[in-house]
Amino acid sequence: MTVPFYGHVKQYHSIKSEIDTNMQEVLESGQYVMGPMLKRFEKEFAAFHGMQHAVGVGNGTDALWLTFMALGIGPGDECITHPNTFFATAEAIWIAGATAVFVDSDPKTNCIDPSKIEAAVTPKTKALVPVHLYGQCADMIAIRKIADKHKLLVIEDNAQGIGASGEGFKIGELSDAVCTSFIIQKNLGTFGDGGAVVTNNEQVDRHVRRLRNHGSEKRSCHSFGFNSRLDDLHAGILSAKLKHIHDWSDLRRKWAARYSKGLAKAHNITLPFETPGYRHVYHLYVIETKQAKHRDALLQFLNDEGVDAKCHYPIAIHQQEGYPWGKGARIVGPISNSERNAACCISLPMFPELTEEEVDYTVDRVLEWDRSAK
Ligand SMILES: Cc1ncc(COP(=O)(O)O)c(C=O)c1O
Repeated sequence: MTVPFYGHVKQYHSIKSEIDTNMQEVLESGQYVMGPMLKRFEKEFAAFHGMQHAVGVGNGTDALWLTFMALGIGPGDECITHPNTFFATAEAIWIAGATAVFVDSDPKTNCIDPSKIEAAVTPKTKALVPVHLYGQCADMIAIRKIADKHKLLVIEDNAQGIGASGEGFKIGELSDAVCTSFIIQKNLGTFGDGGAVVTNNEQVDRHVRRLRNHGSEKRSCHSFGFNSRLDDLHAGILSAKLKHIHDWSDLRRKWAARYSKGLAKAHNITLPFETPGYRHVYHLYVIETKQAKHRDALLQFLNDEGVDAKCHYPIAIHQQEGYPWGKGARIVGPISNSERNAACCISLPMFPELTEEEVDYTVDRVLEWDRSAK
């Protein structure tokens, strides 16, 4: 048996007529960039978050740095995040010209550890950039408190957590803006690249709209800007998929629960931690080997047995070759949890269209390895 890591084509087939209808509508409209389908999706996406504005952009990385720019973050400013996230979180800080400051992650959730943030705050600190890693919200209540105390901006990197929530808060409620990615494999993914900024801040909305479109609000009138727009075909695909995201998240949660139940007695791995009261939407189901030396062996075993497991993310940002490439970067305090996460993580197949047989086969293979691990 083989178990794939992704189910993109299965997902397309499951709602093919809805996606095809929207794509046809765009194709027949003759309006492919900044057309009516983009406007419609932006409205739907803002409403999904219970927020006022959503701006479609070219990808999740652009969503981040366009937001930083819109909020006036640039050279001389510092943004605090953690190093065991996808590279783009820090990359966007550098593109904006600011300094990335890394603090450790929480040993259980692997999201930023709020108790490590204040030691990193300096007069140059402008923003906190929590990531809802693997699909579980960072502790936004603690993060908001720190931001209020030090008068900092908060930008949520929500590339992985669409539809997630925390105990007593929704995504977007406690920040200045939420940035998301629609790349293929995301919980809400298109057939290519895409991203969005969601905000209640009118200035951010207006500024990002201008920046994404050559600094233009009106034909032939420009200010400084870029070209980073979400195409209408992608907006149509996303509009069709958005209607199913809640059910798909439920399915991800169901497979996660089946994995966790099946693997509960394994001795050599740690299972993902769900913070009580939070809705984890399992963009990724990430286990960790208790010993770093076991990680590659387990990964190889699973791959040899037909299970397409992967790692997110095996090389922490500060451990990448050539770091920091002449860019502004600071590490504050030990970051041993982030380093452990990078050294020990394995992502098991996770997508809504998995089957019981695929999940159970994967569980059995992990248990088989676990019994023989030395
Ligand atoms: C946490 C995180 N931030 C940012 C990004 C960047 O998104 P994109 O690939 O659409 O630029 C991604 C995904 O790729 C991500 O997982």
